[in-house]
Amino acid sequence: MERTLILVKPDGIQRGLAGEIIKRFEQKGFQLVGCKLMLMSEVQAKNHYHEHIGQPYFEKLFLFITSSPLLATVWEGDQVIALSRKMIGKTDAMDMIPGTIRGDFSHHTNLNLIHGSDSIQNANHEIQNLFAPQELISYSREITRWV
Ligand code: CDP
Ligand code: MG
Repeated sequence: MERTLILVKPDGIQRGLAGEIIKRFEQKGFQLVGCKLMLMSEVQAKNHYHEHIGQPYFEKLFLFITSSPLLATVWEGDQVIALSRKMIGKTDAMDMIPGTIRGDFSHHTNLNLIHGSDSIQNANHEIQNLFAPQELISYSREITRWV
């Protein structure tokens, strides 16, 4: 069973889209195992986006992600990492296809509402960066074998 980090980024919170985004993951059948509203610290932001340090957009991204609260969530499920990326949609505004979260609610590459981990290794790193182990709760749902 995989886990992934999904962030409703500051633009998603400012626009009141957290409920809509959570709803999609619940509807898909994934299981919520962690959830908190938080301000990302400078250290957490550099850790989270370490692969992007040095890119021309990094400074703007760093200021944006630390500027205002975000909703950090962790979801569990079969292939949740790859499937979440499909639900989220592409990074570039021109490639955001309607039906995806970004395609339905964003038209900006840098204001694209949501983050989702892109590999098991990055998911583990990103989850540990934002959550203490006791903040993640494993529990069983009878429905799991039906979805
Ligand atoms: O978020 P995603 O994994 O789809 O994209 P990424 O390539 O890992 O980039 C991380 C984030 O950096 C994006 O979601 C954008 O917020 C930002 N970014 C940007 O502002 N301009 C770019 N040209 C590329 C990325
Ligand atoms: Mg990424």
